[in-house]
Amino acid sequence: MKFLIGLIIGFLLIPVGAFFYFKLGMAPVSTSSAPMPFEGWAANTALHARQDREYPRTVPIPVTPDNLLAGAKVYKEHCAFCHGFEGQDQNMAAKGMFPKPPHLLRGKGVTDDPAGETYWKVENGIRLSGMPGFKGALSNQQMWQVSILLANAHSLPPEVEKVARGQE
Ligand code: HEC
Repeated sequence: MKFLIGLIIGFLLIPVGAFFYFKLGMAPVSTSSAPMPFEGWAANTALHARQDREYPRTVPIPVTPDNLLAGAKVYKEHCAFCHGFEGQDQNMAAKGMFPKPPHLLRGKGVTDDPAGETYWKVENGIRLSGMPGFKGALSNQQMWQVSILLANAHSLPPEVEKVARGQE
């Protein structure tokens, strides 16, 4: 009997604790606060589980200089504001976000992700982060063009690199 009561109280403590954690304003709400316990884990696990189920496995456009160049133009116009240009600091707005937009053209960026995975993120966005979903705003072709640009960011033709660096 005692065990049962203990068990019930134990189970109640978690939701009650969580309720007061939020209700009493203990949960972090500003972008400069540290993440909540398990916040990163929960967000990443949920995102990966969902996108792994859904992202397209085949890329419907070829990796040609023309498509890469079109992708670089999309990047420059719609993504660089947050993700920045290689060789330049990100702007104030990007620096003040939580989570911060990663540099996509610096280091390995997302070159180790399949283009389809990036496409999924561009199309759907990432909820509760600043990453917008571009479905309906960009054409499917444009979303693929910027996705292959990012997948090949380490080996871009010079004329594409210039645009992606914001130099043209
Ligand atoms: C308003 C700001 C903003 C704009 C504009 C934006 N993003 Fe993002 N993006 C973010 C943020 C913030 C994250 C980080 C989300 C996270 O960590 O969960 C992100 C994440 C991503 C990721 C995942 C990176 C990784 O390491 O897995 C990709 C890919 C991406 N963005 C691509 C793009 C592309 C392509 C565009 C333009 C079409 C774009 N983003 C426009 C804010 C933005």
